[in-house]
Amino acid sequence: MVNKLDWQGSVGKEWSKRMDGLDPLLGPVGDMGITALGNVAAKRVLDVGCGAGSTSRALASLAANVTGVDISQDLLALAKQQGAADYILANAAVDPLGGPYDAVFSRCGAMFFDDAVAGWAHIRNATVQGGNLVIVCWCAAQENGWASIPIKAAASLLGEMPPPPPAGTPGPFAWADPGFFAPILENAGWNNLAWRAVEAHAVLTTGDDPDPVARAVQFTLRIGPLARRLEGMPPEKRTEIAQVVAAAYQEYLDGDAVRVPTKAWIITGNA
Ligand SMILES: C[S@@+](CC[C@H](N)C(=O)[O-])C[C@H]1O[C@@H](n2cnc3c(N)ncnc32)[C@H](O)[C@@H]1O
Repeated sequence: MVNKLDWQGSVGKEWSKRMDGLDPLLGPVGDMGITALGNVAAKRVLDVGCGAGSTSRALASLAANVTGVDISQDLLALAKQQGAADYILANAAVDPLGGPYDAVFSRCGAMFFDDAVAGWAHIRNATVQGGNLVIVCWCAAQENGWASIPIKAAASLLGEMPPPPPAGTPGPFAWADPGFFAPILENAGWNNLAWRAVEAHAVLTTGDDPDPVARAVQFTLRIGPLARRLEGMPPEKRTEIAQVVAAAYQEYLDGDAVRVPTKAWIITGNA
């Protein structure tokens, strides 16, 4: 479970150090989401949960007037350093958002609100009538190699697996089930809702180790479900787990990178 306090604290801090790995992971499905937004030139676009601003900059490069909103001071500081968009440090679910916006976009920043219906109604209220919505969010963990491959490889060393959290528990897979997210957006007043699954192979990496498998393992030890299971584990156990994960990643070594399957929903709608 990752909530807004985590994003304001340790998780936001860790993400701000790992954008060299997060952009390669989220980029392929995120780019498909940006394409789904259509022509954004001269449009006012709100990037919800913009993090370090990668997608805000991508939208700005398409001549959109972008405002990114995020609750993490650490991530927003990185975004501001690189400019290209306006940024608001705020809880997107309740705080003033400016606008009105012609379009709303979010790459994996949609599923952390305490009251999701109220939050997405608040965002709709900052959007012109008919304005486009595109949300990119992960499909289930077992369909995303960055989550499932390391957990499966380390299963025998991790002990008893906790049951999967109920749909909607804030975290990367909170919106994996359309049966969960569709009523939220519908009740928040968004129209013409549709969604399609997209798949891409994404590179797992962080840091500058010359060995691509070592870079993939470093990323996995810091971000994602395995990283959370390792918290508080003795160093010897972590080393053992890193070794079995490295062995599993050999199968996904593709030239100079470890590439794993990812799968996400692209949700579209109108205000
Ligand atoms: C998984 S990250 C995605 C970041 C960014 N969209 C990207 O693709 O790199 C989720 C983001 O949502 C932000 N977030 C979580 N809850 C939020 C809230 N209530 N209001 C604004 N941002 C929030 C986090 O701080 C974090 O930057």
